[in-house]
Amino acid sequence: MAPEGRYQRVLVTGGLGFIGSSYVRLLLTETALEVVNLDLMTYAAHPETLQELTSDPRYAARYTFVKGDIADPAVVRRALEGCDAVVNFAAETHVDRSIHDAAPFVHTNVEGVRVLLDAVREAARERPVRFVHVSTDEVYGEVLEGLSREDDPFRPRSPYSASKAGGDLLVGAYGVTYGLDTVVTRGSNNYGTHQFPEKIIPLFITNALDDQPLPVYGTGKAIRDYIFVTDHVRGIHAALLRGRRGEAYNLGGQNQTDGLSVARTILDALGKPHTLIQHVQDRPGHDLRYALDITKATRELGWRPTVTFAEGIAQTVRWYQEHPDWWRPLKAAQAAFFTQQYAQRS
Ligand code: TYD
Repeated sequence: MAPEGRYQRVLVTGGLGFIGSSYVRLLLTETALEVVNLDLMTYAAHPETLQELTSDPRYAARYTFVKGDIADPAVVRRALEGCDAVVNFAAETHVDRSIHDAAPFVHTNVEGVRVLLDAVREAARERPVRFVHVSTDEVYGEVLEGLSREDDPFRPRSPYSASKAGGDLLVGAYGVTYGLDTVVTRGSNNYGTHQFPEKIIPLFITNALDDQPLPVYGTGKAIRDYIFVTDHVRGIHAALLRGRRGEAYNLGGQNQTDGLSVARTILDALGKPHTLIQHVQDRPGHDLRYALDITKATRELGWRPTVTFAEGIAQTVRWYQEHPDWWRPLKAAQAAFFTQQYAQRS
């Protein structure tokens, strides 16, 4: 098997997180690329998810793990040695956490991206290095109607989305100013197996499994476009291989669904009563709708999502049912967050 395109060795940042680990799995099992995984191992990392794969002799020789912060220039310089591509998944991702404390979001999602870009700039003096940045549909802000396109203005409204917009803009600026080979992807809301149980879908599944209330913010009418994680990482890989330099690509799941429907779908899948739904105080500044136009990615990358919401939810529910040993300790370790987040809301 030949390595992919012109690439030999890819630095994946945040490769122990939910989306990053799905991408590492794709690279190891479906390509011959060497993978360096740089991860800070925050609360959202789950090293055991990749352990079986990366200890398998078929893949171990192509896999290197580096523990560290993308905002640490020395660590980044070392991790980048010999790499001809970087795919940046490292990020603080949870909107509600950013409302409590924006500092880690600015550190990783803005300063961390700046450090990565400067390291790539330095490395690119010696060899071509492509930088793929994983951004989000949330940079466009709330879109009450129509679909967001790649050249739409940014109107972020939460500390999280503002920090992601900052990183996304820096990537574009480094492409223009220093001629770096950059590509940005803007994904919609991910779901699937191995997602930290703070995001709506795994939170609601794990609460329902324990017969605990499903806390729906406000009316539950806020719409998200859910994308199955394996569809998303295939799109990101297509952007690495086929994305045009300096361009951004929307990667949406084409599954616009509101929070109340998510709750009902999950309860039905588990045979639990709808009385578990509990409307709680709304999120401050709650974006009521995100929706992406994916025409550009479809045309230029030859990519489209393949997993329907019904299939994806069924698979996800089954996985959480079968893997309490995976999610229970993660949830227990974050008990203080869940208490702070939900105690006064209900
Ligand atoms: P979330 O999974 O936090 O992703 P994001 O805010 O980045 O889109 O939230 C998805 C939607 O679900 C959003 O409209 C807020 C809503 N939500 C709830 O109703 N209850 C919850 O406990 C959470 C975490 C989210």
